[in-house]
Amino acid sequence: MNDPNGLFYSPTQRLYHLYYQYNPSALVAGNQHWGHATSPDLYHWTNHPIALSPPAPSTYVFSGSAVVDVDNTSGFFDRGHKDGVVAIFTLAEYNPDGTAGPQTQNIAYSKDGGYTFTYWDEGNPVIAGEGGGSSQFRDPKVLWHEPTSSWVAAIAYAQDFVVGIWTSPDLKRWTWASNFTRHGLLGAQWECPNLVRLPVRPGVLPDDDGEDAYVLAISLQPGAPLGGSATQYFPGRFNGTHFEPIDEVTRLTDFGKDNYAAQYFYGLEGEDEALNIGWASNWQYAQDVPTDTEGWRSAMTLPRRSYLANATRMGLVMVDELVDPAPVLDTVLMREEWEGNRSVTVDYAGVESNALYIDVNVTGLDAGKISSSSILRMSFSSLASGETLRAGFYFGGDQPFFVDRGLVRGYDNVFLTDKLSVADVWNTTSGTWRFQGVIDRSIYEVFLEGGVHAGTVLFYPTEPLTVLSLSSSDLPRGTNVSVAVWGLKSTWS
Ligand code: FRU
Repeated sequence: MNDPNGLFYSPTQRLYHLYYQYNPSALVAGNQHWGHATSPDLYHWTNHPIALSPPAPSTYVFSGSAVVDVDNTSGFFDRGHKDGVVAIFTLAEYNPDGTAGPQTQNIAYSKDGGYTFTYWDEGNPVIAGEGGGSSQFRDPKVLWHEPTSSWVAAIAYAQDFVVGIWTSPDLKRWTWASNFTRHGLLGAQWECPNLVRLPVRPGVLPDDDGEDAYVLAISLQPGAPLGGSATQYFPGRFNGTHFEPIDEVTRLTDFGKDNYAAQYFYGLEGEDEALNIGWASNWQYAQDVPTDTEGWRSAMTLPRRSYLANATRMGLVMVDELVDPAPVLDTVLMREEWEGNRSVTVDYAGVESNALYIDVNVTGLDAGKISSSSILRMSFSSLASGETLRAGFYFGGDQPFFVDRGLVRGYDNVFLTDKLSVADVWNTTSGTWRFQGVIDRSIYEVFLEGGVHAGTVLFYPTEPLTVLSLSSSDLPRGTNVSVAVWGLKSTWS
């Protein structure tokens, strides 16, 4: 599988729906369908039969989104039906010689709350490609814009580096409204644009006039700074037809290499309005990673809650906070608190899921006493093979947080960049720093300062990693370290 598609929340079913790019006939992309899964809590998932299959030979169902058409603007649903779902997605045609043919935007509707869909054969495609350039035109993401009572779609003209904004009263008739062109990083293609309204922490925006804030996230690949795929985002304003970034800054959603094409759920409100899930991989090695021996390739990231906030020194950032993992927390394996320096070990060989949640809170940090060697280290090791996944944070100097997957040896690929890091400037006023991480067999997701920085890192050991070591060194007196480690339940049980 690859990209998450059609993410929406159904208030009547109290379920999150997630579709995904899925090839049922091979362990690489190609014969693209929409797979389907649902969850009551974003952690426990039930897989369902395929929701969208190719409607014609050599025509694949590429990425797209879904909305709940509560007011039946589309006319597909019966009176009083509050759970009508409309999916909008790209159909990608391929020529007999294998080269890419046209890519068009199409819709399908579901009268059973998102489980089965009917293609709108009478009217598809709803957008055939006017207004752009090349045939690489895909990945529509739809939102409802209340002030103009209109549906809005952001669609990528992938190789022209354009996000086209289109509007519609009924999800069927679409009008081109504007283009957002060549901002930030280009790479060699733009894909999966997401235009969504974002919750904002009070006082964050300079002209805090109550106007809504939006984010335009654009996935790009190949050609990301670390190679392959990455996602950049622009906080901004949106008036129903045009998106204006607030500043000229290019920001990335992840300092790792393995979080791509994230999509935001449709249909959520308040603090949870902008929940997203990404595809935890990178096109540089997604089709090659060694999990094929177990009959699968690729997984989604953990769910993240986004909002606009001010980060220390950097100012405006979109925080990607881990959605509370309470639904999957099992037994506490360790809870320790100490001052200064210490080292602790947790043997988690007995945790059946082989997955952990780690929460570290450091308080009492004094910038004046921190030295360049003040560090918190953590490593996950296999005693059987000697492999180690290591990470750590230097509180002094450039304040880098790093993850090193180079001492894990189950997979070799020249593009599997092994050393990843980010400068995570902690708040000298509060003197605090927080780390949260989830390690799950072959994926490590870290959240620094509650998600000011997030990193998603795949790793493939030859033997399961089963020992966690955590240590602080050269931390001055008065610095308190509090660590809690949980084993996780299986999300599939
Ligand atoms: C992004 C992407 C999309 C496309 C889909 C095909 O990963 O390339 O642009 O719709 O994957 O599977």
